[in-house]
Amino acid sequence: MSIQQMTVIGAGQMGAGIAQVAAQAGLSVRLHDLSEKQVEQGIAVIANNLARQVEKGRMEEREWAAVLERLQGEVDLEKAAGQADIVVEAVVENLAVKTDLFRRLDAICPAHAILASNTSSLPITEIAAVTKRPEHVIGMHFMNPVPVMKLVEVIRGLATSEAVFQAVEALARDLGKTPVEVNDFPGFISNRILMPMINEAIYALYEGVADKEAIDEVMKLGMNHPMGPLTLADFIGLDTCLFIMETLHEGFGDSKYRPCPLLRKYVKAGWLGRKTGRGFYTYE
Ligand code: CAA
Ligand code: NAD
Repeated sequence: MSIQQMTVIGAGQMGAGIAQVAAQAGLSVRLHDLSEKQVEQGIAVIANNLARQVEKGRMEEREWAAVLERLQGEVDLEKAAGQADIVVEAVVENLAVKTDLFRRLDAICPAHAILASNTSSLPITEIAAVTKRPEHVIGMHFMNPVPVMKLVEVIRGLATSEAVFQAVEALARDLGKTPVEVNDFPGFISNRILMPMINEAIYALYEGVADKEAIDEVMKLGMNHPMGPLTLADFIGLDTCLFIMETLHEGFGDSKYRPCPLLRKYVKAGWLGRKTGRGFYTYE
């Protein structure tokens, strides 16, 4: 399976990162979001990231221009995905939004196209089931920030074909990442382990065990984590953290995954972390 054209749906922090690494690896990339403004913001983030590489002497200006040339923003979904060899979906972590999108993509994309989801926790099998090509649907779960993090969890749905699995593993390697195969269960491996730790850190704050800085400092200095769990939650997005905990809670029916009420409260207040300027911490 030859993959030359990638369409990325969602130009937020993950979608922009995925589009960047794909364009840097030589793929022709279309980046789609709901509005021109969101697409432009995504492309501006990529241009800034690449400009930093040029400043640091790691990329020639010529290459910077060539990467941006391979990248095209497109708000019309049909134009964005009509020629794709692979679509990587990175929209909000909501099953109804994702299944609606996959239904539409199934009708728009060429028959050979792979439809991949960057979902953090939702069932690939259920997303695949709304399409007429479940054997071409797969989970391709990148980590944030995408240009830096090496891992891609690759998740087969029940019907995913071996050829599609192999093609996505090979693509992950071509993007400079290390693919790891994981089965289709809520939160896969990454978020089944990471998110309960973050939720527990929020409970510790909620119960007054320590203040936020102390909680983060313990995990940074004591466990050598690059970011404390509350800083990491702000970085991921508190809405995404809550959606993932809800998926784990509902998927396993186990009270150990109940989302902390303080997390719910912050999300209801619109304090979503870095992306809104306020979460557990405030940002300029
Ligand atoms: N985009 C692109 N590049 C970025 C970046 C971003 N958002 N943030 C940092 N970088 C780059 C910097 O440019 C720098 O690059 P160079 O070394 O080439 O100069 C490098 O990363 C290191 O950055 P800094 O020196 O500024 O800062 P740092 O050493 O503290 O590293 C970090 C930043 C890599 C984000 C580090 O703090 C870290 O690893 N944090 C934890 C990240 C993590 O756990 N990610 C997983 C989240 S969970 C997930 O993704 C799954 C999910 O479904 C929720
Ligand atoms: P984000 O909020 O930064 O961006 C989401 C983007 O999707 C927004 O620009 C929004 O306008 C767009 N969008 C929403 N509905 C859309 C639709 N129907 N069509 C087109 N665009 C639409 O979110 P994010 O952090 O980039 O997360 C995106 C996905 O990646 C989620 O499934 C999330 O769980 C997953 N993920 C997130 C992280 C993380 O650390 N944030 C890590 C790995 C995976």
